[in-house]
Amino acid sequence: MRTIDWAEGSIELIDQTRLPHEVVVLRVESLDHLIDAISRLAVRGAPALGVAGAFGVALLARRHQDLAVVRREAARLRASRPTAVNLAWGVDRALARLDDGPDAVLEEALAIRDDDVLACWSMGLRGADLVREQVPDRPVRIMTICNTGSLAAVERGTALGVVQTLHEQGDLEEVFPVETRPLLQGARLTTWELAQMGAPYRLLVDSAGPFLLARGLADAVLIGADRIAANGDTANKIGSFSLALAARHAGVPFIVVAPESTIDMATKSGDDIEIEDRGSDEVVNVLGTPTAAPGTRTVNPAFDVTPHELITAVVTDRRVVRLDRGETLHVVAPGARCTP
Ligand code: MRU
Repeated sequence: MRTIDWAEGSIELIDQTRLPHEVVVLRVESLDHLIDAISRLAVRGAPALGVAGAFGVALLARRHQDLAVVRREAARLRASRPTAVNLAWGVDRALARLDDGPDAVLEEALAIRDDDVLACWSMGLRGADLVREQVPDRPVRIMTICNTGSLAAVERGTALGVVQTLHEQGDLEEVFPVETRPLLQGARLTTWELAQMGAPYRLLVDSAGPFLLARGLADAVLIGADRIAANGDTANKIGSFSLALAARHAGVPFIVVAPESTIDMATKSGDDIEIEDRGSDEVVNVLGTPTAAPGTRTVNPAFDVTPHELITAVVTDRRVVRLDRGETLHVVAPGARCTP
């Protein structure tokens, strides 16, 4: 089943806030409903947000004849999560077809959906090859954070898509997802996906990840990305930076896996990436249960930025850029996709 799709004039998406306990499909028919789903992380993950953004513009184009209204509403959608560049990218790609009418907008959104599936296949194949090249002993043990699987995209994922490919190719020993507080995407979503894949895994609390890398628990760290700046600095779920520091300390490859659409050449470095602050509630509560003294103040960045110096390589659907060898996104040109 697809994480997000278009069905009978509306958007269908798996409500990720209900996982792993139940699979509930939401039917989204209005922009406010979509923005609410995005804000609550019912739909989340950079590639899925790109598709959601494009489908959202398709909804708007079918409901409003006044194109100025569509553009104004689309700006609200575009701003609903600021760090993942794919959301803005999906909205802008769909808006670019607005003058051609609502069917053209929908056609573009469906193309983005279909393209994501192909992109994820390609990343999986390229990433698995790179991991085999980097890790002499097989099968391999992978540490990862957040959820970068099919739930973060349409059908197959980015970093977890590489894990899936390694598993399908018989080269995976075990996966170590970290829980990913505050919203537990690693615990709730990645374990659910790994169980569905039949891949062996053990869950770690976030703070165990860096120490266990130092103790040699994993052969590589694979993460997704919400935005990759032109110099390779990568915004991803909070906790990625700590894993990158530990991976460097342990001499373990740290690999970023993301589609070309996550690369934002207009953003020069990680310092220029806006980091979403998600407020206090999710820090002072765990799954709805208060865990801190009443009145506790918090700082809650949803993402961090890993400097390019700590990244071994960026794997996209169209290239592998070996940052550890001094390659850059400016110099290594995108090529053809790999096909399964
Ligand atoms: O806040 P989320 O759950 O949307 O954060 C998602 C991540 O950080 C993912 O690692 C990233 O979007 C890559 S998804 C393939």
